[in-house]
Amino acid sequence: MSDGDTARASAFERGGARKAAEGLGHLSGFGNEHSSEAVPGALPEGRNSPQRAPLGLYAEQLSGTAFTEPRAHNRRSWLYRIRPSAAHPAFTRTGNGAIRSAPFNQTVPDPNRLRWSPLPAPAEGTDFLAGLWTLGGNGDVAQRAGMAVHLYHANASMDRVFSDADGELLIVPEEGGLVLRTEFGLLHVEPGHIALVPRGVRFRVELLDDVARGYVCENYGAAFRLPDLGPIGANGLANARDFRAPVAAYEDVEGPVEVVNKFCGNLWSATYDHSPLDVVAWHGNHVPYAYDLRRFNVMGTISYDHPDPSVFTVLTAPSDTPGLAGVDFVVFAPRWLVGEDTFRPPYFHRNVMSEYMGLIEGAYDAKAEGFVPGGGSLHNMMSAHGPDRETFEKASAAELRPQKIDDGLAFMFETRWPVSLTPQAARAEHLQQRYDEVWQGLERHFRTM
Ligand SMILES: [Fe+2]
Repeated sequence: MSDGDTARASAFERGGARKAAEGLGHLSGFGNEHSSEAVPGALPEGRNSPQRAPLGLYAEQLSGTAFTEPRAHNRRSWLYRIRPSAAHPAFTRTGNGAIRSAPFNQTVPDPNRLRWSPLPAPAEGTDFLAGLWTLGGNGDVAQRAGMAVHLYHANASMDRVFSDADGELLIVPEEGGLVLRTEFGLLHVEPGHIALVPRGVRFRVELLDDVARGYVCENYGAAFRLPDLGPIGANGLANARDFRAPVAAYEDVEGPVEVVNKFCGNLWSATYDHSPLDVVAWHGNHVPYAYDLRRFNVMGTISYDHPDPSVFTVLTAPSDTPGLAGVDFVVFAPRWLVGEDTFRPPYFHRNVMSEYMGLIEGAYDAKAEGFVPGGGSLHNMMSAHGPDRETFEKASAAELRPQKIDDGLAFMFETRWPVSLTPQAARAEHLQQRYDEVWQGLERHFRTM
């Protein structure tokens, strides 16, 4: 074990791990031009790439967008590191585990409504990367378009380091706290929070509990951003100041470190002679971030009906068509329902977009049972869905007093293209076989006056 490993163990593995994680500093805001240095004087002044960077560091740019994209959307960061990222041996193919990538063409796209129970428990010693299991997705990694839905179930911290050239990773923990040790510093997330690791950023996931379980949206397309607010005004939904970026923190580890790179759908591995998490200072806006979903400022009706669920959008990844997301991340957070003469649960609908839903805790107000934390449902393009029979009967007869929905936290990855399944998802034992039955028994009530 090297000095760096010892330091890591002392901070996060010898008890007090959560306390240490909760004490982590952060930078506030979304899309900011942040800057941070773990050692005073590590950031150059007035230029990005001086002839000799301070403290003998190497200067390196990491691009998240093409150099020439409009300033409002342009993302890049400058990293000042002990060794440049270029200092590595050749990568060789390694097993993909249960990770799959677009194009997802091994199963016939399924118009049926589908629902899964939680992933089964993994074998001992399964880290976040080994615990990733792909449900499906759309698009094409090589075209930088589309997305994948993954779930994870892990019981060990990563020793290796991972980066994803294919897209950014939106991590939605459902069970177990995580520390993400990234090139930019450390992020702490618990269930009810989200973390985002940008394309190409190296990181390691360390567990704060015996088990970690949750969801991941891998977004191959344009990066997630905050949605426009239109007539809502200058504030509301996810407020920019509530997003947390890490402060610079680095590992000075000389010794073998496995680095796994996901590239065009496959995992590639190389053993470095040092840790690539050796960034002493950085500045820029292509950075990892975290957000507490309970801070979401929920908008809704104060008269009748309820708005479309787009009003619950936390982050949106735009496509080339204005208003049409490659993928939206939407949260159904605690909120009041006050609509008069209104069917208050989500209405019956058929959507041109495709919806994968997951549950972080509690229950969801359109499903009385069967949709459980750690599970998920898929309602692909134009599939008819909505409240189950029990929920419909109850809500149709309910006395319409102001009502607080505060017993659940559900979310949706809503995407422009249908989600095709991986064979492992289509054949999974935890794929529920009788999901359609929740809409059976919806009785005929029609009558002419
Ligand atoms: Fe829906």
